[in-house]
Parts: sequence; C-alpha cells; structure tokens
Amino acid sequence: MTNNTQAHWDRIYETKAGNELSWFQEHPAISLDLIRATGAKPGAAIIDIGGGESRLVDALSDEGFHALTILDLSEGALAAAKARLGPRSAKMAWITADVTAWEPSETYDLWHDRAAFHFLTEAAARQAYAERVAKAVRPGGYVIIGLPVLRHDAASIGAVLGEGFELVQSRRHDHVTPAGRTRRFQFSLFRREH
Ligand SMILES: C[S@@+](CC[C@H](N)C(=O)[O-])C[C@H]1O[C@@H](n2cnc3c(N)ncnc32)[C@H](O)[C@@H]1O
Repeated sequence: MTNNTQAHWDRIYETKAGNELSWFQEHPAISLDLIRATGAKPGAAIIDIGGGESRLVDALSDEGFHALTILDLSEGALAAAKARLGPRSAKMAWITADVTAWEPSETYDLWHDRAAFHFLTEAAARQAYAERVAKAVRPGGYVIIGLPVLRHDAASIGAVLGEGFELVQSRRHDHVTPAGRTRRFQFSLFRREH
C-alpha cells in the first residue's frame, strides 16, 4: 500500500499548492447538496475522511455547521487547512490518522469521503474501512462517498459497507482539474439503518 503511506501524501502536499492539486475544488457543490439532502442540522457531527486541504469544512462552517472533524493521513495537509481557516479551525477537531487503522472514540451523524476511499486498493483495507464506518456512524446516520469513476460504483461501495446501509442517492459529476482535464466522479449517499 505504498500509495497510502503518510510520507507519500505529505510529499504531494509539500510539492503543490492546494489549488494546484488535480482534485482541488473551490466549491464542493455536490457534497454540500448531498449533505443538505440528509436534513442535517447545524449541530450534526460531521467527519470528513481524507479531508486533506478540502474546502468542504469552510463551506460547512459558513452554513452554520459547528461540530466538524477532519481526518487525514497527512499532517502537512491538515496544518495547511488549519492555517487557511484561521481561528475557526480551533472549533474543529483534527485527526491525523490512517482511516483503516483509526479507532473512532465517538459517533458521527455523517461520514463524508471525497476521493480517499478509492486509494484503498486491497480488500483487507476496504474491509478495515467498512469496520470504521460501522463503528463511527450512528444508526440512522449517513455516509457519502465520492470518487473517480474507475473501479467502483454505488453497488460496489454498498457491497463493501455491507448489510445495514441503504443507498439513498447517487450522483455523477464531471470534475474539472486545475489543468483543465475532466475527471468523472460519482457520489453515493447511504443511510445506516436503525
Ligand atoms: C485525492 S485527496 C482528496 C482530498 C479531499 N478529500 C478533497 O476532496 O479535496 C485524498 C486524501 O486522502 C488522504 N488519504 C489517503 N489515504 C488515506 C488513509 N488511508 N487514511 C486517511 N487519509 C488518507 C490523503 O492524504 C489525501 O488528503
């Protein structure tokens, strides 16, 4: 899993500015739409898995959400996100961890992951991920996974999450990279059954 080492990701973040990264989004519109579709209230506990330098938390904070957690393997990416957010970052929780080895100590109303899950190329890592979802997402809570359309679709992600997660919505989105290339993304919103 060389793809997923901390050093690998730290190096990527050190080499490029946040807005030069191929996955950079100024405004994470689809994620926000799907989060709104869950009916989440401002106090909802939301975790962004592999959040890196994503501006999702800025947008959520602008909308009044105030129980935000960002988890990422790269300490450097989280430091850059905190610096960008300034004092607002102190009200958020920041976790430097490999999601597949992380032991969640609380539960969340919503788990969001844009473009981290698909780096788990081994079945054992995907299984470990699903176990964290099952531990961390409260019954009735939601899971949003957005990723480039390559190996996965809503059905294959649903199979990894296992029984007890119902697909609520699935959306296609053409992400345009800062270099002007189009990458097809797919977002799936699941609900954990009670
Ligand atoms: C393609 S970037 C997407 C970043 C962000 N979600 C966004 O949409 O801008 C993938 C992110 O996942 C993180 N990541 C990769 N593998 C991870 C793992 N096993 N555990 C936690 N974070 C991971 C990387 O450090 C990186 O920040």
